[in-house]
Amino acid sequence: MDAGVNSPGLILPLALGFFGRVRHGEERKHALSLLVMGSPMSMDELKKAAAAEALTLVESGMRLGLGTGSTAKIFVDLLAERMKREGLKLIAVPTSEATRQQAEALGIPLTTLDETPELDLAIDGADELDADLNLIKGGGAAHLREKIVELSAKRFVVIADETKEVKTLGKFPLPLEVVPFGLEATKARLTRAIESAGSVGELRLRLKADGSIVKTDGGNIILDAHLGVIKNPAHLAETLDHVTGLVEHGLFIGMAERAYLATREGVRVNKRA
Ligand code: 5RP
Repeated sequence: MDAGVNSPGLILPLALGFFGRVRHGEERKHALSLLVMGSPMSMDELKKAAAAEALTLVESGMRLGLGTGSTAKIFVDLLAERMKREGLKLIAVPTSEATRQQAEALGIPLTTLDETPELDLAIDGADELDADLNLIKGGGAAHLREKIVELSAKRFVVIADETKEVKTLGKFPLPLEVVPFGLEATKARLTRAIESAGSVGELRLRLKADGSIVKTDGGNIILDAHLGVIKNPAHLAETLDHVTGLVEHGLFIGMAERAYLATREGVRVNKRA
């Protein structure tokens, strides 16, 4: 099933036709116009294809990490269906309150990392991924819990549509979860740290549509770093790891084992070296 190292990866055929241009960031949600034998193929159907592929890794008895976001949500729905259909016995740790509520409503047995500190498999979406399977995550403000859960799993697998794949990370603003205390001082330290690591860009406080401040599940706030290009993601991640006041950044370096990417030809599997 596995592709050769990284790209182009193995295509798992789905007979998808693709008649759109790949774009990123804000535009990506409107970017795809897909047809399968004449019928429109929605973004949700693409996400479902990637999620369904990842579901084949799940076996009865596993301890799972459940991601956050629209793609992970589809995975959790499919997981619950399969558990009912096949009587799979699983336990899972959710990466956010939203995923916890969804999983609970679907009857998926939940545990915590305190009860179950090691997981077999974690599955989650991503905002961007590069050829080395370095990721930007945190578009849903859940990257702190996501990183804790995904680092606790023996295997971490990404599910996404191919518009998330980029040559260089950074077009998607890098989420930085910070404590509210001393925000401006932390922001200044972050700006200096980012510059010392070779990037530059504005740090914007993340707001909801109604103008109120986004709060994470841990009660912190998010600064989004608009960097455009991150030339050396590992170096930036290492630099950010030392900034006081920053709880966690959205760079996931060397964590993902593979990615299932829904493409015009089918689901491609990219595997990390
Ligand atoms: C949440 C995340 C999500 O995985 C990421 O934002 C991708 O979400 P979606 O599947 O909705 O595109 O990191 O914090």
